Amino acid sequence: GSCLEAVKIAIDAGYRHIDGAFVYFNEHEVGQAIREKIAEGKIKREDIFYCGKLWNTCHPPELVRPTLEKTLKILQLDYVDLYIIELPMAFKPGDALYPKDENGKFIYHETDLCATWEALEACKDAGLAKSIGVSNFNRRQLEMIMNKPGLKYKPVSNQVECHPYFTQPKLLEFCRQHDIVIVGYSPLGTSRDESWVNVSSPPLLKDPVLNAIGKKYNKTAAQIALRFNVQRGVVVIPKSFNPQRIRENFQIFDFSLTEKEMKEIEALNKNVRYVELLM
Ligand code: A2P
Repeated sequence: GSCLEAVKIAIDAGYRHIDGAFVYFNEHEVGQAIREKIAEGKIKREDIFYCGKLWNTCHPPELVRPTLEKTLKILQLDYVDLYIIELPMAFKPGDALYPKDENGKFIYHETDLCATWEALEACKDAGLAKSIGVSNFNRRQLEMIMNKPGLKYKPVSNQVECHPYFTQPKLLEFCRQHDIVIVGYSPLGTSRDESWVNVSSPPLLKDPVLNAIGKKYNKTAAQIALRFNVQRGVVVIPKSFNPQRIRENFQIFDFSLTEKEMKEIEALNKNVRYVELLM
């Protein structure tokens, strides 16, 4: 139930973009929060921008639409605003979301990302997704889609790790040139959960530069990290279950960083990922 509460608080605080996925196992709560807020008259469906994700076990083209339909059923919504391929690598289809062999190794599955993409295009044509995009794609993977013969829709966005310690200068430039929005995940440097986070990289929010700049504006390091990305055109999707921090992370539109501060923050880039996605 914590997700239901967090989404309702976020909507009240002004958030409209909600980043979800089937593998987060909380789409039923997100859908309920959105529907409750619509019933309250706080928002209309079209005010919300919900992003759903196609998981690795569902890359074969014939699985794409049924998978999205399952997400819509869980959400109890008619469409998602954005549907994205969560990762460029495919796992063996089936009930196991993380299929492994007897040696504990992931069982991959050979699929054609271009064919998966065509199935996403069909979902858009059917009105199940308003826009389609990708996540964790590198430049070559993006090019493969964009150079696909008969491409109908190019990816509108690429969701990747992005924050002051991992600023993605090259990918950001490439995506800018091709009108692909970068959506930055882990914009606060993650929860540092050791089961999936590389904690050898220091905690982002303890960074002295972010904290010093924050002092000047009476803002926290978190707000500076978010403002930095927003100001250079990167969409941020901070996660919090804490009401005060949910509101705090929204208070980033009443100040701006100077060009010098933007450069100082850019210089913090360590080119090290928190989320290594070793799979
Ligand atoms: P919590 O849910 O208790 O607020 P990311 O968005 O980079 O994945 O980071 C999420 C982590 O950062 C969560 O552990 C979240 O914890 C924490 N967090 C979210 N907002 C803030 C904030 N304003 N200051 C400090 N920590 C935050």
